[in-house]
Amino acid sequence: MRDLAGQTAFVTGAASGIGLGIATALSQAGVKVMLCDIEEEALKKAVADLKTRTNVDVDGVKADVSLKGELQAAADATVARYGKIHILVNNAGVGGGGVYRDWTDAGWNWVLGVNLMSVIWGFEIFGPLIEAHGEGGQIVSTASVSGLITGPSPAYDVSKYGVVALSEGMRNALAPRKIGVSVLCPGIIRTQIMTSRRNVPQRFAGAVGKPPPAEGRRAEFIKALQERINNGIDPLYVGELVREAIENDWPYIFTDTEHEQFIDQRFAAIKQGFDRIRRRTPRR
Ligand SMILES: NC(=O)c1ccc[n+]([C@@H]2O[C@H](COP(=O)([O-])OP(=O)(O)OC[C@H]3O[C@@H](n4cnc5c(N)ncnc54)[C@H](O)[C@@H]3O)[C@@H](O)[C@H]2O)c1
Repeated sequence: MRDLAGQTAFVTGAASGIGLGIATALSQAGVKVMLCDIEEEALKKAVADLKTRTNVDVDGVKADVSLKGELQAAADATVARYGKIHILVNNAGVGGGGVYRDWTDAGWNWVLGVNLMSVIWGFEIFGPLIEAHGEGGQIVSTASVSGLITGPSPAYDVSKYGVVALSEGMRNALAPRKIGVSVLCPGIIRTQIMTSRRNVPQRFAGAVGKPPPAEGRRAEFIKALQERINNGIDPLYVGELVREAIENDWPYIFTDTEHEQFIDQRFAAIKQGFDRIRRRTPRR
């Protein structure tokens, strides 16, 4: 088990929800944490609260992680502030992007930019910084159970499948470079995810598609989902799981078993595809 005390972490989407839970759990273990978020006021408050609660050296940097230049600047600021970086948590994410016949290019670009491109750039920018000091480290990326089974939100699902695929591939590629890679696949967590539209960047304003309807089947679905999120798992517990995962280099981090049966069903359907073809002679 790795002792994290005295190491430095960079956590995106850290002003709220799961990111704040992870930043809190890491700072409770003595990790210096640079919190990164697009929401300046929430970020200031999160940093101030953490400072008083943990007495650890934490700080904040504002960035829209869907812009590579801003993520790079945040990385530079973290190196200037702390020197070495050991842990990257690619956590910032948004729900939305629209449904079939309702989605827009801007909606896809927004969701893929925040949820997937920022993770790709996270590996690209922070990987060499972790490698540079030779002490090893960990890259954790927040996907979702929606990275293993699809739901009603195509852009979200595509982005999260991408995060799982990237993490699985990078785990093999970065192991010889002393960087462990983990993917977090949360179930239903008590956060602000249902109000993700608060963070639509100005360049996509008014173009990410219509907000969900106030009435009808989709409205009922969203109401029920909000209810489940309100009663969801404590984000600090998720943060504690992530801390344990970093200490022990877990490849997959789940938060509960609620969706396990649906993932089993997907694997069974894939297996059936092979069983169907096994009986035939391949045509070459
Ligand atoms: N809440 C859940 O049930 C759940 C389940 C599975 C996965 N997730 C994932 O967890 C991660 C965190 O979400 P959450 O549920 O804590 O929601 P949240 O809205 O509480 O937190 C997300 C944070 O990301 C920040 N953010 C949004 N856009 C950003 C941008 N462009 N640049 C920088 N920061 C940005 C927000 O300001 C916010 O602080 C996301 O990747 C989400 O997809 C959440």
